Amino acid sequence: MKTTPRQLKSLYEQGRNISALLREEKGLQRNTDEIIEIAYGLQTGSYIASMENAEMAEHQRNYTLEIAKTILSLCKPMSILEAGVGEATTLSGVLQHLQAEVSNFGFDLSWSRVAYAKRWLQSQGVSNTTLCTGNLRHIPFASNSIDVVYTSHSIEPNGGNEEPILQELFRVTRRFLILLEPGYELANDEARRRMDTHGYCKNLKGIADSLGYDVLEHKLFPFTSNPLNPTAITIIKKDEDAVPPSYILACPKFKTPLEEIGNMLFSPEALVVYPIVGGIPCLRIENGIFASKYKEVMGAG
Ligand SMILES: C[S@@+](CC[C@H](N)C(=O)[O-])C[C@H]1O[C@@H](n2cnc3c(N)ncnc32)[C@H](O)[C@@H]1O
Repeated sequence: MKTTPRQLKSLYEQGRNISALLREEKGLQRNTDEIIEIAYGLQTGSYIASMENAEMAEHQRNYTLEIAKTILSLCKPMSILEAGVGEATTLSGVLQHLQAEVSNFGFDLSWSRVAYAKRWLQSQGVSNTTLCTGNLRHIPFASNSIDVVYTSHSIEPNGGNEEPILQELFRVTRRFLILLEPGYELANDEARRRMDTHGYCKNLKGIADSLGYDVLEHKLFPFTSNPLNPTAITIIKKDEDAVPPSYILACPKFKTPLEEIGNMLFSPEALVVYPIVGGIPCLRIENGIFASKYKEVMGAG
C-alpha cells in the first residue's frame, strides 16, 4: 500500500472515495478484504450520525419495518444475525420492529464499526446481543446456529466472491436467509455501470439457484436510499429439521467450538487463540495466533 492509513484517513476527511483510490493504487477492478476493511473502517460513525438527519431516519424506519414484516411473514425467529452489521443502525431498527425478545448477533470486518455498533445498540436499549469481528467468507458461527440470517448491503462490495459468501451464509442459517443487496439484474443501465465501477456483487439469485437453494422470492425492495443502487430482496429457505448446535460462536477456520480462557477465545481444533479487544471477540482467521501450548501455559490444559 503506497498511501498509509493515516494519509487515507485525511483523504477520506477531504471527501475522497477510499476504495476507488485503493483499487487504482493496486491496479484492481475488485475490492479485497483489506480495501473493504479500510474504506468502511474509516467511515465509522457516519451511519450513526446520519440517524440525526430526519429524511435518513425516516428511510431507515421504513426500510427496517419492511425487513421486520418480511421476517415475521416467514417465521417467529428465536435468533437473528445481521452479517456485515456495520454500526447496527439496521439491526437496531429491525429488532425494534420485531417487538419480541430475540437473541441477536452481528459481525463485521471492521473492529471500529463493531465497537460503534455495540455502543449504538446499548443506547437504543437493545439487549441479548453478541457482536464480533468476522469475514463473510469465513463466518465465525456454527452451522445451522441462527434461525434468520440476513444481510443489508454487506455482500455489496465483495464482487467476485458471491458464491463462497452465499455458501457460508447458508451454512450458518437454520431456517431463512434474507439478502438485501444491490439488484444488478433488476437495475437500469446507469445503475449497472455504477455497480460495475464499484466492484459490487451480482447474480445472487442465479448463484443461489445453481447451488440448489430454495429461492422463495427475488424482487426489488420497496425502499432504497440511492436510486443508483437499488436494493433487491432475495429470500432463501433452508430445511427446518436441522438440529441447532449447542454453541453459536465458532472457530472461523473449522467451525468448531471455542473455549474462553484468559479473556481470549481458544480453538482446540485450530490450536489458535483469538483475542477479545475492547470486549469484542476478533474472529477473523488472520486475527488468530497459533498457540499450541496456550491451554497448558494458561493452566487450563
Ligand atoms: C454498506 S455497509 C452496510 C452496513 C449495515 N449492514 C447496514 O445496513 O447499515 C457494508 C458493511 O459490510 C461490511 N462488510 C463488507 N464486506 C464484508 C466481509 N467480507 N465480511 C464482513 N463484513 C463485510 C463492511 O465493513 C460494512 O460495515
